[in-house]
Amino acid sequence: MQELNTLPKLPLGLYPTPFYKLEAISAKYGRNIWIKRDDLCGVALGGNKVRKLEYLLADARAQGCDTVFTTGGAQSNHAMLTAACAARLGMRCILLLKKRGVTDRLGNLILDDLYGAEVRFVDTDSYDDIYAEMDRLSAELAAEGRKACQIPVGGSTPLGSLGYVNCVWECLEQAQQQGASIGHLVSATGSGGTTAGLLLGARLYAPDWMVTGMGVDDDPFDKIVPSLAADAAALLNTPFSRTPDDFRMVYHIGQGYAIPNAEDTPFIEELARMEGILLDPVYTGKAWSGMLKLLQDGGFDRRGDIVFVHTGGAAALFAMDLA
Ligand SMILES: Cc1ncc(COP(=O)(O)O)c(C=O)c1O
Repeated sequence: MQELNTLPKLPLGLYPTPFYKLEAISAKYGRNIWIKRDDLCGVALGGNKVRKLEYLLADARAQGCDTVFTTGGAQSNHAMLTAACAARLGMRCILLLKKRGVTDRLGNLILDDLYGAEVRFVDTDSYDDIYAEMDRLSAELAAEGRKACQIPVGGSTPLGSLGYVNCVWECLEQAQQQGASIGHLVSATGSGGTTAGLLLGARLYAPDWMVTGMGVDDDPFDKIVPSLAADAAALLNTPFSRTPDDFRMVYHIGQGYAIPNAEDTPFIEELARMEGILLDPVYTGKAWSGMLKLLQDGGFDRRGDIVFVHTGGAAALFAMDLA
């Protein structure tokens, strides 16, 4: 197996991120719940995309790219973190964002400007249109002697997913140091790469753990996640063997992607007030609330404690109200 740390990777975040038990929440819900604070990864307001970008931007640099394109919704956390990381590397960053959702200069759009990204809105519902526009602009740049890389939505490629294989390794070490007996990893699933990396990491390092993806959009992640994990395993030249209960998708979308959900608000407030932790209404608030509901419905078997992987997203709190 090609070792994970032999692939080119840039040190963009501060890892390992903190891992600890949520004492008050665990007492309230009668189950040990731990948190992996990838919202505290040291870039901007933190978030899961930095682990992916460590691989994706290393690859872009190795290919001699001077410009990075990526995409997402108007308030994309991924786009904002790409802007932040590209700026640190001295790369030009062009964000082709869907003209959907909160397009006012709020939340992540303020940060995109701060990091010097060029933001262009594309009035479409289809990422295919956006990728076509990226191709067109990349060709224009090539004619000027520049080289652009295109990072797809969410950075959810097999290479990007490897970032979350690293995260499982960190959780395993931190759990051992703190005497935690983990059985479950839970994360928000928006484009699939984070959950795919967690699944592959668990298969490689912690084969008894179950990964639960909390879908915040309605794509068929039960297929997308294992397929991305298998392709990521291929990059490591390692087999990807499965068990029937190593992974499941649970959907907690409410009225739609990026629409704050009134049912989640009490859970978001509770975590802020009991543990001082911020969740956003688009990703982590839905994943957290969905996880606690699943727990209350008896949806977590007793194989071990639960880890919530906090994937960031706090800037959305400054762009939209909780429902
Ligand atoms: C804060 C936050 N959490 C979770 C996710 C979902 O991660 P993934 O796209 O890898 O499924 C995203 C994706 O944009 C995000 O911004």
